[in-house]
Amino acid sequence: MKDAGYSIVLYPGDGTGPEVLREGRKVLDALAEGDAAPWRLTEYPGGGQYFLKTGKEWEPEAEAASKSADAILLGAVGWPGATLPNGDIAGRALVLGLREGLDLFANVRPCKLYPGVLHRISGTYKEVWSPSMVDMVIVRENTEDLYTPARGRLRRGGETEVAVDTRIITRKGAERVIRYAFELARARPRGAPEDGVKRVTCIDKANVMEGCRFFRETFDRVAADYPEIEKDYAYVDAFTQWLVRNPEHYNVAVATNMMGDIVTDLASVLQGGMGFASGGNIGSDHAMFEPVHGSAPKYAGKNQVNPFATFFAVEQMLRWLGDRHHDGRLTRQAARLERALSQVLAQGGSGTYDQGGHASTSDAGDRVASAVRAVAA
Ligand code: IPM
Ligand code: MN
Repeated sequence: MKDAGYSIVLYPGDGTGPEVLREGRKVLDALAEGDAAPWRLTEYPGGGQYFLKTGKEWEPEAEAASKSADAILLGAVGWPGATLPNGDIAGRALVLGLREGLDLFANVRPCKLYPGVLHRISGTYKEVWSPSMVDMVIVRENTEDLYTPARGRLRRGGETEVAVDTRIITRKGAERVIRYAFELARARPRGAPEDGVKRVTCIDKANVMEGCRFFRETFDRVAADYPEIEKDYAYVDAFTQWLVRNPEHYNVAVATNMMGDIVTDLASVLQGGMGFASGGNIGSDHAMFEPVHGSAPKYAGKNQVNPFATFFAVEQMLRWLGDRHHDGRLTRQAARLERALSQVLAQGGSGTYDQGGHASTSDAGDRVASAVRAVAA
């Protein structure tokens, strides 16, 4: 427990990032009212738009702050035309750079459909499953696989002839993320909605790829330490249809980086869309939390996007801080926020355009902030 409080660094970033982070801040401030806030918030600019303005992705003090922060909250990065000389997106330093630099090896993405929220299958708003049928966490490896900087182009006479990305799966990378998934399944109070069984599903393509065979072997080795948890396997192609057809089967699933990137976007449709999808980038010493939706340039400045993904990211962050520092104050604040969020959602969802409503980003933030005030600390 830190009496002096936890330092939380905020990177609003690009596009709609600043809008959703502003609401996240509003909710954090509401949680902190009355009592001394057990956290200090410091905001730093950075990202693609900042790069276009200044020629830098961020300032040295922002980078330094990420290393000393107790937790980081990121809005989103990426802006049309903001590209680094090597072709990477400008703002990469704040996402992929921090994942690598702070060794945030597990990307933890909860997928839960709350009562009152409508799923987005086929782009419409429907309630086909009862919300209690979607409640899983997908854990994505976050530092290797096709994301390793083992890539490049062969240019002959100025023409690109070959472009290569290399898929790297390491023992260390696989082992720690798989262990994270099993520990998470052990800690979660409930198993899969279908049958209550605590289950970890290994998502891979082990019928074809060597890296996936190694990932699965590692999965089996780690699973031996968790005899009370059911082992489950899914080839990634089959997983995509089972996920949609039978989401209640899944409790915790673990995947390599690129496959995890893809299946978590798909899974978000089951929880109401990207407007509800949050992720925690978690390492042994650092963690960064974010809404997964990205900067959505089309909606930037319109006060229109759904800030709930950011609220869930805040909840994940407070829970992680509470666990890490054995600080009940943070754990209680996380539980309080989740209660407020589920109360607001139960009264008619987020109300934002992506759910067929007319509420603005700041309306949604106001509703959650008042709900937080009404829920006892
Ligand atoms: C995500 C995003 C990032 C990724 C991008 C912005 C680099 O899609 O967090 O899922 O590919 O991991
Ligand atoms: Mn993604």
